[in-house]
Amino acid sequence: MTQTIATRDSQVGAAVYTKTALKLYDFWVHGFSNHYLWNCPTEKLHAIYQRHTSNNHLEVGAGTGFFLKQVPFRVLKPRIVLMDLNQNTLEVASKAIQHYQPAGILVDILAENMPNLPAFDSIAFNYVWHCLPSPPARKNIAFRNVARLLKDGGVVFGATLLMQDTPMNPFAKALMKLYNQKGIFGNEADSREALESVLAANFSRYEIRQEGAAALFSAWK
Ligand SMILES: C[S@@+](CC[C@H](N)C(=O)[O-])C[C@H]1O[C@@H](n2cnc3c(N)ncnc32)[C@H](O)[C@@H]1O
Repeated sequence: MTQTIATRDSQVGAAVYTKTALKLYDFWVHGFSNHYLWNCPTEKLHAIYQRHTSNNHLEVGAGTGFFLKQVPFRVLKPRIVLMDLNQNTLEVASKAIQHYQPAGILVDILAENMPNLPAFDSIAFNYVWHCLPSPPARKNIAFRNVARLLKDGGVVFGATLLMQDTPMNPFAKALMKLYNQKGIFGNEADSREALESVLAANFSRYEIRQEGAAALFSAWK
């Protein structure tokens, strides 16, 4: 089931995910880039999904459904909602976990109004913040929206790539710069402090751990 909500001018960070690009995505991002460019082994991301994903889960930025496929849900029919600004990712991720019959909603996480949905126990927001248009202050609304969709005591988790004060090899640095120029990433001003400040503003407690260029975070409402 796909429900649509009006979107704003933040299409570029999502538009790159064509059906063809999505065929290469898992290999390029989670097979190669995490290990050789961002220095954040993909296992660390699997671990954060295993730790936090509940049976009442929202996935913001569906991608290919790569991590959700591996989560051992403990009920036959968890409630899973996929939210994305791109119809292709909704289709591909829905298919990847079709046995759970996820719902898909086409929504810009930077929109002023979120759809009215029963609140979630867990929300994954993995590798999305760095795709949203810079500067950090402009995209803080994404975490505000996520907090609104979360139950009291619920957790949002994921990772985001930082560009400020982040040691990277020259190729990784050049590629991240290029991604920013193309609008695929919007993280040129993103720092651990900026992430910390938006989490502190929207959640009662949070944890951040840096692995290479990635900041892994968990935050509770
Ligand atoms: C780098 S991919 C991450 C996918 C997945 N979470 C993962 O970790 O593999 C970014 C995802 O966020 C989505 N996205 C980008 N901008 C968005 C926005 N403004 N609102 C909702 N989704 C967005 C993209 O379409 C894409 O599915």
